[in-house]
Amino acid sequence: MGYDRYGVLASQHIRPQQQRSRFHAPTTGRLIRYVLAVILVLGFYTIWCRPGISPTTDHSLAITDVPLPNLAGDAHTVVYADNPSIQPDHVEESTAEIAKVESQGRETIKPETAVSVNPISYSGARFGKITASFGDPDPPYEDAIQSHQAHNDLHGYPHFILREHMIRGLWSKHGWIMTIIGQELAKPEGERLQWLLWHDRDTVLMNPQIPLDIFLPPEPQFSNIHLLVTNDRHGLNNGVFLIRVSQWAFKLFASALSIREYQPEIPLKYTEQSAMEEAIKRPWWAKSVVQVPQRWFNCYPPDGSSGDEHAPRICREGSMLIHFASNRDGKRPERMARFHEIADNKTAEWYKPVNETGYVKEIAEYWERLGQGEDQQSIVNDLGKRSWKVKAKGKKRGHKKRA
Ligand SMILES: *[C@@H]1O[C@H](CO)[C@@H](O)[C@H](O)[C@H]1NC(C)=O
Ligand SMILES: *[C@@H]1O[C@H](CO)[C@@H](O)[C@H](O)[C@H]1NC(C)=O
Repeated sequence: MGYDRYGVLASQHIRPQQQRSRFHAPTTGRLIRYVLAVILVLGFYTIWCRPGISPTTDHSLAITDVPLPNLAGDAHTVVYADNPSIQPDHVEESTAEIAKVESQGRETIKPETAVSVNPISYSGARFGKITASFGDPDPPYEDAIQSHQAHNDLHGYPHFILREHMIRGLWSKHGWIMTIIGQELAKPEGERLQWLLWHDRDTVLMNPQIPLDIFLPPEPQFSNIHLLVTNDRHGLNNGVFLIRVSQWAFKLFASALSIREYQPEIPLKYTEQSAMEEAIKRPWWAKSVVQVPQRWFNCYPPDGSSGDEHAPRICREGSMLIHFASNRDGKRPERMARFHEIADNKTAEWYKPVNETGYVKEIAEYWERLGQGEDQQSIVNDLGKRSWKVKAKGKKRGHKKRA
């Protein structure tokens, strides 16, 4: 259509000129030169306009041919992570409804609950979750990954699980994150996921009622923030973090992944984790990274001691997930199984709607204080120590007084 339109316009432009030349140019030589010049201009014009007429369909087809699930934009689409011993494929796509999952015998939350448990409205960003577990099937870790299912079903998070060793050592993590982010960036912006939660496979999802977008930086004030990380006493712990789907993120992991080659003199004590820590320390990256309280999404299991309630690294009851980072006593599988059972039992202590946890207040306070220019570390230190029980105790005391 565009081509025709341009053709018509061009011919309308030509005809009067030809007529004029016939009137005022008596010599045929000059007439021929006019006509030749016009034909030349018309020819160039046609060639110039051609690529703009139809979009380069062939090229975009080639990009979308990547064999990964195309899930963004559909809140009810879920990727099911199957046991690798049954299905060794990387990820399997399914568009089954929550009801179908229930009919398969998997205990999940009913859709009505899914609506009522999330009364507070957050950004509604399109989130995906990403992890890796490959090699021989390892039941405790498969169980831990399975614990995420109720969370994925409730909020419609696609789950991308790497099932092959992509890059030597522990670097598959970076490679897989780049794969998924690259896949999303190859889509039109409106169809992309907007954020990803990376979680190591030794995490048990405890409270599926916590939506991931509650943690996100308020926009547009913090739209320069692309990465939310947490530290433990050894520095960065990248077992769980939130990353924006962006060119920034893609380049950060490319940068971290190549430190070993470009700067072999830098010691990487914890290999890929240290590389990521090294990269985000550099000024160009640092300004788009925030450190948030570890407890929010990367806390360690409570061990029942009285200090748990105020320990910055220990989960509170109602925390979203537990990261079983340390395995010094070799009892990690048992601990993971025990907490998975608590999660499955949906105990009143752990299975809480978001507004009955400390998240709402703490997260709002964090961004507010950061916006006022307070130092990240001092906010993290202060919020990290808070107990989620203080309020409940206060209420009980109140009742006693009144009674
Ligand atoms: C979970 O519930 C079952 C059945 O009520 C109970 O036997 C089991 O002890 C519970 N497990 C935990 C870890 O609370
Ligand atoms: C949390 O939200 C639910 C549903 O809106 C409401 O019934 C409940 O009272 C709220 N709880 C608190 C502590 O605000």
